[in-house]
Amino acid sequence: MNKNELLQSAMKALALKLELDSCSTDGFRVQRWGIGGQSVVYEVDLPDGRRVCLKLVRDDGTTIHLERESYFLRILHSKHFPRLILDAARDGFIVEEWVEGVPFSFKSRPFLLRNLKVIARDLAQVLQDLTATSLAVLHRDIKPNNLYFREGEVVVLDFGSAEHEGARAPVQPNVFLKLGRGTHVFQPFEQLASQPTQDRRVDVFAAASVIFAIIEGRPPYDNAQSGYAEALAYYESKERELVRVLKSRPPRLRTALFNALLVDSKGRSTDLWDVVNAFE
Ligand SMILES: Nc1ncnc2c1ncn2[C@@H]1O[C@H](COP(=O)(O)OP(=O)(O)O)[C@@H](O)[C@H]1O
Ligand SMILES: [Mg+2]
Repeated sequence: MNKNELLQSAMKALALKLELDSCSTDGFRVQRWGIGGQSVVYEVDLPDGRRVCLKLVRDDGTTIHLERESYFLRILHSKHFPRLILDAARDGFIVEEWVEGVPFSFKSRPFLLRNLKVIARDLAQVLQDLTATSLAVLHRDIKPNNLYFREGEVVVLDFGSAEHEGARAPVQPNVFLKLGRGTHVFQPFEQLASQPTQDRRVDVFAAASVIFAIIEGRPPYDNAQSGYAEALAYYESKERELVRVLKSRPPRLRTALFNALLVDSKGRSTDLWDVVNAFE
């Protein structure tokens, strides 16, 4: 048995034991970190001193999100994403590097504001790294909960919703499950409305929304209206409001942010470098 197989069987044994919240066994220390939408996340200290993240499929869930996460972490090479250590997604778990840092939360906003120039640059680089593979990757869930600032660099977690650009099948019309819920406020309109037109500009919108939220203390849109036509009109009114809200900002920043936050993806920027340059 090589080292990897050994680790794999040890982690599998742990994964089976993990009905419980925490345990210490054979030099492994395991702590439940949280129950996410799709998986249960554990912080695991290995006997060799490393700290790793074990994600277990939920009892009521499918392995599809773990399979996506392991697939995309495998094909993407960037210091801005966690390193995949073990892929047993089909068996219901994966292990990745544990990411320690300052979470993007409302409480850490003053800190994030002080580091905004670096954060904008890193987010632009994240989008570039996502689209540098032969088939571009859409993360589709860039939001504060999935972002950490680690040793002066942004790290993006959670590839459970990711997909390749252009891989989306046409959807049935009139299924707009996310509209009106007031949640998913970092997602653009075309994603909330499950449109097949989703491309890299989905992540541009989300990353620009994170930057906007750091500057203004709230996200640019709020998704409070249900129904396609009503929600679209609401988003367009919010877009007009943005012009007013951004008025006090330097012209280059105002224009760059506005272009990254357009409701209609056809006119939206395809990367974040104009925003970065506006901070220089
Ligand atoms: N590699 C990691 N290192 C540290 N914490 C992590 C890691 N992956 C996930 N987490 C923590 O677990 C939470 C949920 O994980 P995530 O992958 O975002 O799943 P979900 O799909 O449930 O949102 C994250 O918000 C983060 O706090
Ligand atoms: Mg998440």
